[in-house]
Amino acid sequence: MNSNLYFAPSASILPMVIFKKIQDIQPYLSAQKAAGRGIGFVPTMGALHAGHRSLVEKSCAEGLFTVASIFINPTQFNDKEDLAKYPVTTEADIAMLIEAGCDALFLPGVEEMYPGGSDTVQTYDFGYLETVLEGAQRPGHFKGVGQVVGRLLDIVRPGRIFMGQKDYQQCMVIKSLLQQMPGGDKVEMVMCPIVREADGLAMSSRNRRLTEPQRAIAGTIYQCLVSIQGKKGNGNFAVVKKECEDLLSDKGFIPEYVALANADTLALLDDYNDSAPMVALIAARLGNVRLIDNILLT
Ligand code: PAJ
Repeated sequence: MNSNLYFAPSASILPMVIFKKIQDIQPYLSAQKAAGRGIGFVPTMGALHAGHRSLVEKSCAEGLFTVASIFINPTQFNDKEDLAKYPVTTEADIAMLIEAGCDALFLPGVEEMYPGGSDTVQTYDFGYLETVLEGAQRPGHFKGVGQVVGRLLDIVRPGRIFMGQKDYQQCMVIKSLLQQMPGGDKVEMVMCPIVREADGLAMSSRNRRLTEPQRAIAGTIYQCLVSIQGKKGNGNFAVVKKECEDLLSDKGFIPEYVALANADTLALLDDYNDSAPMVALIAARLGNVRLIDNILLT
């Protein structure tokens, strides 16, 4: 026998265990913790793409026992049509998670998450964050996000939760959730970079609803963010904002907001302010698809 024979790590695909019930996943995760493994958690709504995958890979790279969840949470959809049209690609999602090295998948139904109805599950108050930008455009959205992530954290009890900067305001909501919920201080939120298509379009499950002509221009949002960033040193934000709104409208978008904010508090800024960490954020509709993106002005 050839003693030099060995298998590349990629050849050894480890199994991923799928759980639908809380009563099954909890003892399984308790056993992992008892064996000394830290738990990394990646909550998703499925229709997975390379952005989601990057979160799973980051958790695995940190040596954590990685748990993903797929649950299309009805309580965070203020637009019922958006909920009805949300893509479901569970088989492909499972294949991607296995390839990414995910250890366990929690795949609950609505009954499992909200057995007595969603009104019986704890919600949290995110104050200002619920009133501005995404909070203002999507009333009730962050209440629903906080409710479902709170419930998922209670079930999975990870040491780290991995979230995408793509949803910057959501990351701030989850930070606030961790400050409010019992045991939240034992969980660290890791914000991961935005994964983009070649033309800069931030990957999103909703991108697959774009028509070909819409997809061809969707990268304009990122171009706008880059121009906002580029004019940081010598620009007037009101002027850049107007240029971006006009460009988006000319291309056929309906811009909802083009905003500059303090990256720590999300307080809106009228102009660039070098003494504060800043984030530029855009939301715009293309047909009936709503796209959001942001860039940190470092
Ligand atoms: P979903 O839209 O499926 O996103 C799951 C996670 O993937 C979020 O943390 C999101 O920010 C991240 N993500 C999405 N697109 C990304 C990209 N292009 N690059 C990097 N990360 C990206 O966000 C939700 O689900 C839900 O609100 C949820 C937190 C699961 C609660 O229901």
